[in-house]
Amino acid sequence: MAERQQELGGISGDGSGGNGGNEENAVALLMRQHGEIRNLFDEVEATEGDARRDAFHRLVRLLAVHETAEEEVIHPYARRSIDGGEAVVEDRLAEEKKAKETLKDMEDMDPDSPEFMPRLAALRHDVESHARAEERYEFIQISRNTEPERLRTMAKALRAAEATAPTRPHPGAETAAENLAVGPLAAVADRARDAVRKVMGGH
Ligand SMILES: [Fe+2]
Ligand SMILES: [Fe+2]
Repeated sequence: MAERQQELGGISGDGSGGNGGNEENAVALLMRQHGEIRNLFDEVEATEGDARRDAFHRLVRLLAVHETAEEEVIHPYARRSIDGGEAVVEDRLAEEKKAKETLKDMEDMDPDSPEFMPRLAALRHDVESHARAEERYEFIQISRNTEPERLRTMAKALRAAEATAPTRPHPGAETAAENLAVGPLAAVADRARDAVRKVMGGH
């Protein structure tokens, strides 16, 4: 137990993550994504024009992938494995639903229009308080009580979801136009869901 707590302590101190070991742990991987989501909000706020549009689309993609993978992998597991799991997960799903509705409203919005930044600020508030609640009420308990093998399998499913919607631009591999054409939010979530189910199917 002490060892696992120590591991979690290490993870908390490294929001940007990215080292090989953490990618084998589902909780560490999700915390790394929470850090990336925060960074992308910063980037959207700090840019304008095409750069803002591009950063926003990467943010939308990452949010779609992240929340879908949590809904497929982490919340069902938390429901049955942590104390009071049912209630904890219901609260998290309600928060996710609210954020998704805001995101959907923003999907067709011009990032340079005057109503964009206030909406973004509201979304950021909802997404970040949701992430803090997950870390506090869900992730810590999962980290303490889950076998490393299980965390590895869940991490594999999360990585498969992430691979369906890269959020870092790859020069040459993707044209600017393709980078902007995110496709509907629902399509991104569908691809992530299929990838997760493929991995979790055998477990
Ligand atoms: Fe979530
Ligand atoms: Fe999350």
